[in-house]
Amino acid sequence: MRSYKKLITLAALFVIVFTGIAAIEEPAGEFKNLQVLPKNITPDSLDKIMDGFNQGLGVNCAFCHTENKLLQQLEAEKDTKPEKEITRNMMRMTMDINKNYFQFNEEAVAAKVQAVTCYTCHKGQPIPEKEKKAVINSPFNFKPN
Ligand code: HEC
Ligand code: HEC
Repeated sequence: MRSYKKLITLAALFVIVFTGIAAIEEPAGEFKNLQVLPKNITPDSLDKIMDGFNQGLGVNCAFCHTENKLLQQLEAEKDTKPEKEITRNMMRMTMDINKNYFQFNEEAVAAKVQAVTCYTCHKGQPIPEKEKKAVINSPFNFKPN
């Protein structure tokens, strides 16, 4: 029961945070290697999340996924690129931030809620821009030139 609720929260959170669209998840389960997203996520919701990654980081699908050059298709279930595993951690971190420090719940309305997304930090870059100058050695005191 608890883990079911957690799954719902997770599903709701991702749909809200990354797609801004509320969708009802069906127990389809056609994806092979999901470790963070709900295993029964719909193809439509997954597509929107992946598109969000592309936009948030200014990359294309092959930044995280290997491509089968011969068949000209993604092998998205494979964990061959380190970027994919880094992304799993980034997803966990982003969810934790929203869950623990912002007003997030299942009833949150996507259009009205300000949430931390990949774009918040990345701004369309694979690696977020660094602050130019540290005034003192503290993360709160970085000042751009
Ligand atoms: C920034 C990295 C990143 C980008 C860019 C990205 N993905 Fe993904 N993708 C992931 C991660 C991470 C997972 C696994 C999520 C999990 O474990 O819950 C995943 C999972 C998938 C899966 C599920 C595979 C399976 O069967 O387990 C598909 C399909 C997929 N991505 C397609 C795409 C497509 C199509 C694009 C481009 C539109 C794309 N991805 C862009 C990181 C990325
Ligand atoms: C709180 C800020 C923050 C958020 C939110 C965030 N990231 Fe990051 N991300 C970073 C920073 C900072 C780095 C650079 C770390 C480094 O250079 O070691 C990074 C690095 C990465 C990298 C490695 C890039 C490379 O080329 O080495 C990937 C991939 C990535 N993030 C994906 C994501 C995705 C996808 C999301 C949304 C689920 C996300 N990040 C959300 C701050 C963030």
